[in-house]
Amino acid sequence: LQARFSEEIAAATDLNALDAVRVAALGKSGEVTELLKSLGKMDADTRMAEAPKIHALREAVTEAIATKKAALENAELDRRLATERLDLSLPARENPKGSVHPVSQVMDELAEIFADLGFAVAEGPEIEDDWHNFTALNIPETHPARAMHDTFYVAGEHEWPMVLRTHTSPVQIRTMQNGKPPFRVIAPGRVYRSDSDATHTPMFHQIEGLVIDKAITMGHLKWTLETFLKAFFERDDIVLRMRPSYFPFTEPSAEVDVGWSIEKGRRVVGGCEGWMEVLGSGMVHPRVIAACGLDPNEWQGFAFGTGVDRLAMLKYGMDDLRAFFDGDLRWMKHYGFSF
Ligand code: PHE
Repeated sequence: LQARFSEEIAAATDLNALDAVRVAALGKSGEVTELLKSLGKMDADTRMAEAPKIHALREAVTEAIATKKAALENAELDRRLATERLDLSLPARENPKGSVHPVSQVMDELAEIFADLGFAVAEGPEIEDDWHNFTALNIPETHPARAMHDTFYVAGEHEWPMVLRTHTSPVQIRTMQNGKPPFRVIAPGRVYRSDSDATHTPMFHQIEGLVIDKAITMGHLKWTLETFLKAFFERDDIVLRMRPSYFPFTEPSAEVDVGWSIEKGRRVVGGCEGWMEVLGSGMVHPRVIAACGLDPNEWQGFAFGTGVDRLAMLKYGMDDLRAFFDGDLRWMKHYGFSF
């Protein structure tokens, strides 16, 4: 019997055939198993004589099968190694990863810079009522600034006309109405104006700053802006110029220019070969503070607002604002924002 199984094991050319032999010998009703079962029916003497032989047979067959199995598995591995060669010249399959949009990235940078200066982040709705967007900011109904803002109005009947906010300044109002002074907040977010060309898109991003306390001056405003712009543009040679200006919600008001110079044929922020405007700012108008229910004789401060997209364009040397919203991956890649 052992010789026959040896032959059958040797003849098995694959793992399936080998397993068939195992079942025929050692399976539930295999021949070796049957022999083992027959031990119970033998008388003691015969069993004493037969048992060692039958056990030896089982061991021999079990071992032969295991050895053959290892050999077949090795052969299979050799075959696969020989046939499944890796083609190292094949280009790797791309595994594109998403990345943070440049505008979001700049907003995160700004939030971080202002967090270091002790500013919290405030938010307000993008669909805003006319009162928060204009009236409370000292822009009454007949004020020409309303026309200047190219406002999108929301259709329908409401207690106040509803608009897509034209700036982040209504967040100043919501902050002062809903919290307790002193305040030190920034408000980054989307704003909307009906305007579109290379430097204007109907939706763009602003960041508002508001500081309200008891003895805040324009000196604090200037220091804050200088510190923020130096950190944002990562240069120490940032020069600021404050020009008297007019906003209904600040008095006095100042537009802030930053000095630029030409480096490697390109205009960059820093140095002082010329000026460009980057910010609107001023001391919060007492009427705005009063409209929020605070006493302007007790509380005062400054506010500023600037375009996030424009800051991003200046920092990264981009020239068309609309490209931010085209979703063109080649453009993203070119500016190092993708993959
Ligand atoms: N809200 C102004 C704008 O959109 C900017 C600004 C904010 C000016 C705060 C002064 C103070 O142009």
